[in-house]
Amino acid sequence: MGEFQKVIIYFYVIGVVRSVQQIPWLSCQFTDEHVSLNKEGHTETQLIHREAMVQFGQKGDAPVNPHAITFLITVSKLDLQRAIEGVEAEELECEVRRYSTKGIHVRWPALGAEGYNYWFTCILRHRKDQFIATAFLRHPSDQAPPGQQDYHSWPAIADREVLSTTVAMFLKSETPSAKVRLRSEPKLHCQFSIDHRGPNVTVEWHWQSRGERKKLFSYNSRSGESHGSGVGRKALAGGDASITLPFTKMSSEGSYICSVSVNPLFATMDLNLHIEEAPRVSLNVDPVWVVEEGTEHKVVCLAESYYPLDVEILWREQDPAASGQRVGAPLPQELKNILFSSHKHNQDQTYTLSAFFYLKASLKLSGKQFSCSVSHPSLRVPIKKSFILHVEEASSPMFYLAVSVVLISLLGVLIVMLLYLNSARKRSKKPY
Ligand SMILES: *[C@@H]1O[C@H](CO)[C@@H](O)[C@H](O)[C@H]1NC(C)=O
Repeated sequence: MGEFQKVIIYFYVIGVVRSVQQIPWLSCQFTDEHVSLNKEGHTETQLIHREAMVQFGQKGDAPVNPHAITFLITVSKLDLQRAIEGVEAEELECEVRRYSTKGIHVRWPALGAEGYNYWFTCILRHRKDQFIATAFLRHPSDQAPPGQQDYHSWPAIADREVLSTTVAMFLKSETPSAKVRLRSEPKLHCQFSIDHRGPNVTVEWHWQSRGERKKLFSYNSRSGESHGSGVGRKALAGGDASITLPFTKMSSEGSYICSVSVNPLFATMDLNLHIEEAPRVSLNVDPVWVVEEGTEHKVVCLAESYYPLDVEILWREQDPAASGQRVGAPLPQELKNILFSSHKHNQDQTYTLSAFFYLKASLKLSGKQFSCSVSHPSLRVPIKKSFILHVEEASSPMFYLAVSVVLISLLGVLIVMLLYLNSARKRSKKPY
């Protein structure tokens, strides 16, 4: 095969792979704003939800849906399409909003962005929390910057308008909702890209929970100064602002906010961190447990050191014949007479709970399998512990007494017979 053909095949394969994985357009909600001054002179903002499309392509492309507003994202240095590669359009929630520069009028330092720009944010959220991304869309305008807050003079957007935009900056996190164990050192992902070289970028991390807020880290590319820890300086230069947290405690739960700003754009992402600790499950009896008929026992299933609180413990019993066979076996029965201890709060703020029942050993229970199953949000499948019960027939005191009486009487009879025999022999030896 010639080099040329190889190249052709290579590009063909790349083309097929790309067309399979990349999303050409997305159906979006555009949250428009109607800003007005009320009688008291206060600003009032009314949100209006409108149908829109985000379409990837070239300037001048025809809209895929001519009945909706189209935000046409033209090719730029930042490839948003690439950043969301590998997911299906149905898995994404998409929203476009107007973005106010809050009265700051500065030139965007990218090449070809000399004039005034209107800004939009496009927020893409994976429905199963695989990632969240925010893109800043730049829509060049031929108008002069308004001398006031931009939201007072939002240009109207018609129902079928096509707005040509380019991505100027985007932020992405693959850990929008992280579930981690206690005493782990989780890494929260935050990646940013900016469309020009050497941007004056400020990166910050904050933690927030129940009205409390703390700054964890800050960095500015121009001054080169950073405060706090957990973010690698080298990684930052490549747009990776991921933070590694110190050993997690219960109090580490909350929102972690990654913010990246390049004047006049200010982007934030809220990442949620939850602590999840799986229960340790144990029984107070052996896997094969032998008891005597008629005796009574407390059987305990203990779930220890879990978090959060919601745990479910079930006890089930199953017939001996059924446990071996796969098809047509009767289902295990849930035990009804289960009692629960109260939740115990451990020192590390995890919980412990036990579910127990009283078992009166009877012969008809012998061979049954009892199992305890514990479900918890940290577990994909419940933890199961089980034992097989063997009940032995009781040997009662009356039985022992009867046996002894019989033995003693037999012995008595033997002695009497021996004595009799002996005396008879003596008598027969007398010489008459
Ligand atoms: C960089 O941006 C920050 C705030 O966004 C600003 O205070 C600072 O003066 C800028 N630095 C330079 C060198 O432009």
